[in-house]
Amino acid sequence: MRLKEKTAVVTGAAQGIGRAVVQAFAAEGARVVAVDLNEEGGEETTKLVTDSGGEAVFHRADVSQVAEVEGMMDRCESEFGPIDIMVNNAGIVRAAMLHKMTEEYFDAVIAVHLKGTWAGTQAAAKRMIPRKSGRIINVTSGAGLRGTIGQINYSSAKMGIVGVTKSASRELGRYGITVNCISPAAITPMTDTIRTDERFQAKYLERIPLGRWGTAEEMAGGFVFLASDEAAYVTGIVLRIDGGMST
Ligand SMILES: NC(=O)c1ccc[n+]([C@@H]2O[C@H](COP(=O)([O-])OP(=O)(O)OC[C@H]3O[C@@H](n4cnc5c(N)ncnc54)[C@H](O)[C@@H]3O)[C@@H](O)[C@H]2O)c1
Repeated sequence: MRLKEKTAVVTGAAQGIGRAVVQAFAAEGARVVAVDLNEEGGEETTKLVTDSGGEAVFHRADVSQVAEVEGMMDRCESEFGPIDIMVNNAGIVRAAMLHKMTEEYFDAVIAVHLKGTWAGTQAAAKRMIPRKSGRIINVTSGAGLRGTIGQINYSSAKMGIVGVTKSASRELGRYGITVNCISPAAITPMTDTIRTDERFQAKYLERIPLGRWGTAEEMAGGFVFLASDEAAYVTGIVLRIDGGMST
């Protein structure tokens, strides 16, 4: 029980990595607010947790809206108590080559990933500073470390998330708050196309030295580590859980 008595807010919790993180946190004793726009998936996540004896509630919010991000913090406070762990994981993809990228696609991805991560980091930090403790975990991508083709919006946002993480870690260290980033590569609905479409399948697999995609559960272990006491002296890092893809 590495997260016993801790409270957590996890965004993008209706499926994929977010769901696995909610389940892993709850299994380690945390009480979790599972946030998503997708109510059906979010409720399913919390049911999986409560059915196995854990504590989690679903909260619907759009992470690109600051007022809604504040709302999910208030929900944590009223349901479980002050926030200990914030995971900014929600994400979308709107792929197009640079010369075809629309303003709508560009703005949508920046709003959810970059603005959403900034808003979640700020809202959590405001509540953690007076208590002089807290863990903030953001989610970048190989696209945010080395760039990628056909996703200039996503790469820009994910590189920005590294900037949010590193700057916030410098500002918040004096309050005992750590801020880190995870760069995953996992079997989730988001990676369906590049894992199964014949045009991309082999090309992507070739880039992974371990020769396979990870499971969402394999990603969750890294989130638990960064949220736990074992990572008390770790801040400002990008932890790659990607089979070696971004080396
Ligand atoms: N799966 C991978 O290999 C991989 C690789 C690199 C980075 N990532 C990142 O990991 C995170 C999780 O990815 P995933 O693969 O589990 O994706 P996913 O598509 O399976 O899940 C993303 C979740 O975010 C939710 N969401 C989208 N917009 C939202 C909003 N505005 N407010 C609240 N919730 C919203 C969706 O409803 C969905 O449940 C994302 O930030 C993604 O960019 C994933």
